[in-house]
Amino acid sequence: MCGIVGYIGKRDVAPLLLEGLQRLEYRGYDSAGIALHAGGKTGGLKSAKAKGRVRELESRLPKRFNGTTGIAHTRWATHGAPNDVNAHPHLDADEKVAVVHNGIIDNAADLRTRLTAEGFVFVSDTDTEVLAHLIARSEAGTLEEKVREAVGHIEGTYGIAVLHADFPDRIVVARNGSPVVLGIGEKEMFVSSDVAALVSHTRQVVTLDDGEMATLRADDYRTYTTEGSSTSAQPTTVEWEAESYDMGGHDTYMHKEIHEQADAVDRALRGRIDDRFSTVHLGGLNLDARDARAVRRVKILGCGTSYHAGQIGAQMIEELARIPADAEPASEFRYRNPVVDPDTLYIAVSQSGETYDVLAAVQELKRKGARVLGLVNVVGSAIARETDGGIYVHAGPEVCVVSTKCFTNMVVSFGLLALHLGRTRDLSVADGKRIIEGLRKLPGQIEEILANEAQIEELAKEYAEAKSMMFIGRVRGYPVAREASLKLKEVSYIHAEAYPASELKHGPLALIEPAMPTVAIVPDDELLEKNRAALEEIKARSGRILAVAHQVQEKADHTIVVPKNEDELDAILMGIPLQLFAYYTAKAMGRDIDKPRNLAKSVTVE
Ligand code: G6P
Repeated sequence: MCGIVGYIGKRDVAPLLLEGLQRLEYRGYDSAGIALHAGGKTGGLKSAKAKGRVRELESRLPKRFNGTTGIAHTRWATHGAPNDVNAHPHLDADEKVAVVHNGIIDNAADLRTRLTAEGFVFVSDTDTEVLAHLIARSEAGTLEEKVREAVGHIEGTYGIAVLHADFPDRIVVARNGSPVVLGIGEKEMFVSSDVAALVSHTRQVVTLDDGEMATLRADDYRTYTTEGSSTSAQPTTVEWEAESYDMGGHDTYMHKEIHEQADAVDRALRGRIDDRFSTVHLGGLNLDARDARAVRRVKILGCGTSYHAGQIGAQMIEELARIPADAEPASEFRYRNPVVDPDTLYIAVSQSGETYDVLAAVQELKRKGARVLGLVNVVGSAIARETDGGIYVHAGPEVCVVSTKCFTNMVVSFGLLALHLGRTRDLSVADGKRIIEGLRKLPGQIEEILANEAQIEELAKEYAEAKSMMFIGRVRGYPVAREASLKLKEVSYIHAEAYPASELKHGPLALIEPAMPTVAIVPDDELLEKNRAALEEIKARSGRILAVAHQVQEKADHTIVVPKNEDELDAILMGIPLQLFAYYTAKAMGRDIDKPRNLAKSVTVE
């Protein structure tokens, strides 16, 4: 949520920062802005900001807007409306200090009152502006000390980058709870909140820890704590290729990412299957067989799509390992003073590894002595670092705000974990083998589903006229219905709700009429007849039905047929056509598919 990018070197900084902002735009797109050292005789800072997208900012940049050192930001509004004034960077009254900030300053109101009483004049409604004034107010001799002093007054979370007119040879950055990554170039340095903005320039990065700061100069960098003692953060190499962030001939990232799923699943399986013992190796789990056997419950925590992946994961773990398991939104869990049980294995699931509610739940659990694993996509992210071990889902970078390939890889990774836990317990060799065969079939079956794109496009055009849709499923199909309903509403803005098929008659059946279509998940498993009965109930009320099933459903108006896998793994595949359905519905409605209104990819605030 929100993106920071900065550069110091010899190149013209504005185009570089604009390119970085484009790469980060998926994190927030309410406004954007740039500040740079103007250099030359007059020196000083220059800044430009604009409400809306980065292209808006680009069209508004002043003619002479040159320099070789600058910082920039793309914003997802928290404090204050999304307008020009509230856009970052924020400057002090003398325009000596410019700050870009991700995170939330909890005591901003108090600081604002104090600073106003001292005569500082605030121009924006943001929490960030207090930082610009605090840094300007500091009488310390160096920029590092000024920033240190300023962040000392702050309660809350921040990832910041700071320019100061009197210190044109450096950018100072600091991190507490919001990511800051340095990019190490040849006689040039970059900083960003996300490697997405760095990989086209360098793959050598340094990820700051909470409580860490850094000074960037064109030819070196230094890291130290907010207390001032040096740290020795070492560069690592980013695995993801710059090309992974390009659209690669697709019209949107969503379309591209849906089509990457066969490869992504293949990557999640690669090197992990152990045919000899009909199980899987999960290197980073840090859970030996004895630990695995001691687990009495599994509790999965995540938000949004990741929470739905967790619901499917919990079912797989119960089925294959026979360990009681459930999933809960991390945002609810952390506020209900949960009973933390030493025999429960907690699993935090997150694409970004940054979602604040998930991170806060992990920290609370660890404080209470729980064992927490991460099921995460972004390597080295905060949640990956805070957990005791885990599984990287290897989906590759996901740029579209709504998650598709990462969801699928999360569910596959849960399948691997369920198999692993199952094989340390009572899952037989034969069943282990059966599940492995099922897993191996997934990439080919995903290709088969995607080959059916034209049918799904036609259906989506037809259903796009609905004002509201119902999604139903039973047991394994229910979380699939929930995720498909979320996908549709996020990207098309059509109201959708998901219900267990068995619960229809307890209320939602009242909504069924021809104008309210139902999307039904109908796997060929032991509940097939029960699901068919639900279709009958809907048909009897003249409801239209679109079924996703393993065979054509007579009662349905349309069926999207998907290939059958093992019963326990069917949920992985059944949602995939509905990703395309959501995509084509949104397309038919002319929606901004990669950047739905009001949303952001990584929600790093509460
Ligand atoms: C945001 C995104 C969702 C995502 C959720 C959790 O709300 O818009 O697509 O599912 O955050 O994100 P995470 O990175 O933790 O998986």
